[in-house]
Amino acid sequence: MNNSRKVAVVTGASQGIGASLVDGFLKRGYRVVATSRSIKPSDNPDLVTVTGDIGDQETGKRVIDTALARFGRVDTLVNNAGIFIPDAFTEYTPEQYAQVLSTNLNGFFYISQLAIKAMEKQGSGHVVQVSTSLIDQANSKVPSVLASLTKGGLNAATKSLAIEYATRGIRVNAVALGIINTPMHSPETHEFLAALHPVGRMGEIGDIVDAVLYLDSAQFVTGEILHVDGGQSAGH
Ligand SMILES: NC(=O)c1ccc[n+]([C@@H]2O[C@H](COP(=O)([O-])OP(=O)(O)OC[C@H]3O[C@@H](n4cnc5c(N)ncnc54)[C@H](OP(=O)(O)O)[C@@H]3O)[C@@H](O)[C@H]2O)c1
Repeated sequence: MNNSRKVAVVTGASQGIGASLVDGFLKRGYRVVATSRSIKPSDNPDLVTVTGDIGDQETGKRVIDTALARFGRVDTLVNNAGIFIPDAFTEYTPEQYAQVLSTNLNGFFYISQLAIKAMEKQGSGHVVQVSTSLIDQANSKVPSVLASLTKGGLNAATKSLAIEYATRGIRVNAVALGIINTPMHSPETHEFLAALHPVGRMGEIGDIVDAVLYLDSAQFVTGEILHVDGGQSAGH
């Protein structure tokens, strides 16, 4: 097996930001393992897809096992799979709470453990979380404590892991997004959502792909929460 080319793993890769991250890494010459519950098989020899719920420990194992078996290494993991359920704090159901924790936190934890184990053996690697700017600037118009609990946890874990692995060649970063024009948001909400940004517009998926690819090549950057949010974290 020729395993000299870099390998990226992207979660939540069937649509939206994840699907474009897959294209971005392929264009950069990486081989890619892409995963989500409904992702379709690929006939591109540089791309393998794995179906499964990322909250299940077993999915993370199949994804990382596939990367190692097919491509021999794991250089980058993008923890992009995530769900967003905005609601008033007292209205969240136990099922919603469990679902958000499973996807956003378990979905980060299990696969990252296995990816970092593989990266440790290689002596290099990069893990990127996809987070939200709402953690830094809560918004009275978008009550979303479950995003704060889970993505806030990812931001904290990003710094913790960056320090834990700093001397072992593994970098850990996050991108904190404003509101991005993806299938997550129906068109009738776009005007309201654009107005939540100091720059007066929603972000585009390409803005996020650029940021993740920048972090991937930025060898002196670790523990960074890179805001890609049209100015939201700076103020309103
Ligand atoms: N769009 C925004 O405005 C925005 C803002 C801040 C942060 N973010 C974050 O950016 C990331 C991507 O968002 P997006 O807008 O591209 O979302 P999206 O269009 O809704 O896509 C979400 C992706 O995650 C996958 N997914 C959801 N639940 C999953 C599960 N239990 N197991 C495995 N895969 C699962 C979905 O695929 P399947 O349905 O096939 O599983 C899909 O590929 C998320 O972490 C989100 O929280 C987005």
